[in-house]
Amino acid sequence: MAVERTLSIIKPDAVAKNVIGEILSRFEKAGLQIVAAKMQHLSREQAEGFYAEHKERPFFKDLVDFMTSGPVVVQVLEGENAVLKNRELMGATNPKEAAAGTIRADFANSIDANAVHGSDSTTSAAREVAYFFSDNEICPRG
Ligand code: PPS
Repeated sequence: MAVERTLSIIKPDAVAKNVIGEILSRFEKAGLQIVAAKMQHLSREQAEGFYAEHKERPFFKDLVDFMTSGPVVVQVLEGENAVLKNRELMGATNPKEAAAGTIRADFANSIDANAVHGSDSTTSAAREVAYFFSDNEICPRG
């Protein structure tokens, strides 16, 4: 299995619930390493750029409003099959459909305030990691 990197964001609802540590701990317990991390209050420009592929979707403005409503924690996760592993830990986009024990089932309120973001492919991950981090901010342990 390939060692991959994926971008993870702990969204404003989960930061407000004070569950940053619990979420990061799930990544580590699943064998993923946090190789970069920062807390940031996104500007509208940053959020719109990050979600540019969704700009024609009806929920785009709500998504940007929500993602700029408070601080987020952005991290790069590294490990075998990291993209899929993270998606499994997160659960379905709509927390009502998320499997028991997943991050969204346990911490998300609704489809728009759904606790976490994770890259959906290795191609998206490469773009998303580079969107938030320069190479010298990523610290693989080797
Ligand atoms: S897709 O088609 O699979 O790419 O779309 P999806 O993954 O379902 O959603 C993309 C992101 O948009 C968020 N989303 C919403 N925000 C606000 N309101 C509504 N109704 C809504 N539906 C989807 C969803 O949480 C995804 O955000 P990320 O950060 O990628 O998880």
